[in-house]
Amino acid sequence: MWTEQLGKQLGNPTRSLGGWLVSKLFKIRNQVLEDNAVQLCGIQPGDTVLELGHGPGLGLQSAAKLLTEPTGHLIGVDYSEYMHQMAKERMKDFIASGKVTFHLCDVAAMPLADDTVDKVFHCNCYYFWPDLNKAATEIHRVMKPGGLMVTTMRLSHVAVLGAKRVMPGENWRPDAYMAALRDSGFTDVKMEDKYHHNIPFQAMFATASK
Ligand SMILES: C[S@@+](CC[C@H](N)C(=O)[O-])C[C@H]1O[C@@H](n2cnc3c(N)ncnc32)[C@H](O)[C@@H]1O
Repeated sequence: MWTEQLGKQLGNPTRSLGGWLVSKLFKIRNQVLEDNAVQLCGIQPGDTVLELGHGPGLGLQSAAKLLTEPTGHLIGVDYSEYMHQMAKERMKDFIASGKVTFHLCDVAAMPLADDTVDKVFHCNCYYFWPDLNKAATEIHRVMKPGGLMVTTMRLSHVAVLGAKRVMPGENWRPDAYMAALRDSGFTDVKMEDKYHHNIPFQAMFATASK
């Protein structure tokens, strides 16, 4: 089924024609979501910031420019080897200066210490996580008390893909993720409708209370 193939490539792009095509799609369609997620995080120059499921690395590029103090650090997590390589190529200067670190791993098992991250952002990502509670608990673990997590999405597009079963199960529904965040210790969990010029999108916010 084409929907299954598309879902596989969106959820874990491989070095293949399909993976290359979806990476082009991410670059054309998702820059707005990535940039707005970075903006809404309120990144401070000395923060430690984590992007989950960074794909080709457009959001990492925006976030890195804001981390101007020596303590400012950026971490990228994605389990697609292809996206990992693509983002590392894009960010090679920041890697050389020690500003960014990459981890090829699952968001549900990150090699990061407890209470170390100020801000987390991700775009178009949680729909593919098989266990939202496990992932949310892991994100909460690595965040500093009071840290902010932001995710952006175009819900109308996501709902179409969800209805066509491109994403497996019902995890694409914002309510499912918001419930998992609350169960994992996040507070002030909310979703807001936003516009970037005339482009509508949604932003979800959650605070890592501890
Ligand atoms: C649809 S793409 C979105 C990429 C980019 N954030 C964007 O909006 O263009 C989803 C990304 O999340 C990654 N991903 C999905 N599930 C993951 C997981 N459990 N752990 C780590 N990365 C994951 C995929 O490899 C892929 O790069």
